[in-house]
Amino acid sequence: MTGTTDPTGGDYDFVVVSNRLPVDRVLAPDGSASWQQSPGGLVTALEPVMRSRDGAWVGWSGQPDLDFEPFDSAGIRVVPMRLSASEVEDYYEGFSNDTLWPLYHDVIAPPNYQRDWWDAYVAVNQRFADATARISAQDAVVWVQDYQLQLVPKMLRRQRPDLTIGFFNHIPFPPYGIYSQLPWRTQIIEGLLGADVIGFQRLADASNFSRAVRRLKGFVTKNPIIEVPLVDESEGVRAHGPVRKGQEFRTVVAKQFPISIDAAAYEQLARTPAVQARARQIREDLGNPKTIMLGVDRLDYTKGIGHRLKAFGELLADGTLSVEDVTLVQVASPSRERVQTYMHLRDEIELTVGRINGDFATISHTAISYHHHGYPREEMVALYLAADVMLVTALRDGMNLVAKEYVATRFDEDGVLILSEFAGAADELKRAMLINPHDIDGLKESIVQAIEMPKRDRAARMRTLRRRVLENDVEKWSAEFLRVLTNSRSGRGRKGSAA
Ligand code: G6P
Repeated sequence: MTGTTDPTGGDYDFVVVSNRLPVDRVLAPDGSASWQQSPGGLVTALEPVMRSRDGAWVGWSGQPDLDFEPFDSAGIRVVPMRLSASEVEDYYEGFSNDTLWPLYHDVIAPPNYQRDWWDAYVAVNQRFADATARISAQDAVVWVQDYQLQLVPKMLRRQRPDLTIGFFNHIPFPPYGIYSQLPWRTQIIEGLLGADVIGFQRLADASNFSRAVRRLKGFVTKNPIIEVPLVDESEGVRAHGPVRKGQEFRTVVAKQFPISIDAAAYEQLARTPAVQARARQIREDLGNPKTIMLGVDRLDYTKGIGHRLKAFGELLADGTLSVEDVTLVQVASPSRERVQTYMHLRDEIELTVGRINGDFATISHTAISYHHHGYPREEMVALYLAADVMLVTALRDGMNLVAKEYVATRFDEDGVLILSEFAGAADELKRAMLINPHDIDGLKESIVQAIEMPKRDRAARMRTLRRRVLENDVEKWSAEFLRVLTNSRSGRGRKGSAA
């Protein structure tokens, strides 16, 4: 640590900022509370970097109105941010998850544009930026995560031009025709352009962003570089139009860095005898059907769960499949349960599951084994091992890590992945069975093909998929992003001279 405490420098050389902390506040039945590391891949990937570089993590505890002092956890300084109950409603449930989330996922659900939600989003982003500015050491590297915090890069740069600032968008960035609906579209673009590097999941997301920059700011973009004229060092993003001759500018890199998982850890878990025994037990408990199909999703309208159920229901109704032979296991983990659209979705999905089971299940064979829970990683891996066909039918998804988890788990080179072409993962996992979830007949055909696929073909596809997932793991993802971010500091110059 540098040990400085002056206003231009805190103690930490590497700071991650995200809406949620990497630890969850867990309440025991006896009322006592403790922090537990959340299972996400991001923590796993960044933990070694954070330990070796005096790392701190700024984020929200996940509960309203609670104040916590910063503390150390597994070598990481954890800096909890307080959100009031009304900020949770307006910034998190409102602007983040009822405006940006549906807008960025191709308006599958209609986004709500509410001015007081925007005000809360600005205020919370400012508070996160202030806290980050306070704890970051001179010349520190700051990495801001995801759509909840898109204004932080600009707010941070204004206070701390010495920092190197990265931003990664975990969800899609929509085409301009959709993005332009947002009443605050220019402010968000300016917020993001405060970063030195802006990472996206897919090439298409980065291109959509660059187009929005050209349309709204008139800046020149030379893929992956965007030239931002410097009016003054801290507020360059306010300017409009291309950099003029003799004018100073800074460069921002906007490109794709497809995120991944800790693939080796998934494989290792799959190889443990206890997990394999559990997978066999799952098959047995389901009555040893010939085929187990599996869906694993947050209960979210972007995931295409209804499309998947429709296809399966029709295959049972037209007699192509029978419950004696095929069971669908659907894990739908609870998510954003106070947002209306999510409440409706849950009702709709559970009604459909009930109907299909009512129509087709027998006393000894269920059609859909439905679970509205999250499960520990061991149980998920056992489910992946037990599943002959994995169904990922997202209507739009930044990446979809479940697809990669399934592949990483299948060291036996068996199992078929049906993957929506609208998930970011489809850019990499081309040997999956790629489907259009809107095409129900096409989806039904793919399901039948997957069930009937000969072992040799399954193995050949899975081998190719596994090579990809094991080589491009989350550690490689973070290392690559941080390499580009560290190099980006040299990216400034004057038009007409070398940048
Ligand atoms: C997506 C987002 C994350 C978010 C997660 C869970 O993966 O990209 O930023 O944390 O969903 O959603 P939640 O609203 O529970 O944080």
